[in-house]
Amino acid sequence: MVLSTSSVITLKINGEKYTLPVDHRTTLLDALRERLDLTGTKKGCDQGQCGACTVLLDGRRAVACLQLAVAAEGRDITTIEGVADGERLHPVQQAFLDLDGYQCGYCTPGQICSAIGVIEEHAAGWPSAVTEDVRPEAGPPSLTAEEIRERMSGNLCRCGAYVSIVEAVARAAEEQADERRLNAFEDAKEVVA
Ligand code: FES
Ligand code: FES
Repeated sequence: MVLSTSSVITLKINGEKYTLPVDHRTTLLDALRERLDLTGTKKGCDQGQCGACTVLLDGRRAVACLQLAVAAEGRDITTIEGVADGERLHPVQQAFLDLDGYQCGYCTPGQICSAIGVIEEHAAGWPSAVTEDVRPEAGPPSLTAEEIRERMSGNLCRCGAYVSIVEAVARAAEEQADERRLNAFEDAKEVVA
C-alpha cells in the first residue's frame, strides 16, 4: 500500500477560505508565508522559542512554526493581516504605533497577535504564573506590568523594545476594558427600556 504524503486542505484565514495541496509535513507558518503569500507572520527561530510566528487559532495564541497546516484545517486562523477592522487599526496595533512598541518591527506581528490573546485571556479571568491569588473568588488579577511581562514572555524582541511593548499592551487592555464596560452599560439600558 502506498501512503499519501500530501493532501488538499482548506484553511480559513482572516475570514477567507484558501484551498491548497500541502505536504503533510508543512507547518502552518510555511503554508502562510510560502504558499499563501501572507508574509506578515514572521519566521524567527522556527522551533517554538521566539514567538515571532504567533497567530490566533480560534482566538487563542499559537506559534505557527509548531503547528502543522493539516492540523489547522477547520480552525479560525487570524494573522496580523486580519486584525484591523478595514482601515481602522486594532487597538493593540494603534497602541504599538502611538507608544513606539517596536524598533525593527520583525517581532511586532507576533507581539501584536500575542497581546490580543493576552488581553482576551486576562478578561476571561485566566491567572498567570505570577498571579498571587488564583482562587476563582479572587477575580481576575489587575494587569500590572509584571503580569504583562509574564504573559508576553514567549515573545522575544531582539531590539529590546520591551518597555514600550508593556506600555502599549497596558494601554490597549485599558481601552478594551472601557469598551466592554460601555457595551455592558448599553446592553443593560436596553433591557431596562
Ligand atoms: S518562529 Fe515560531 S516561535 Fe520562533
Ligand atoms: S522590534 Fe526588532 S525584534 Fe522586536
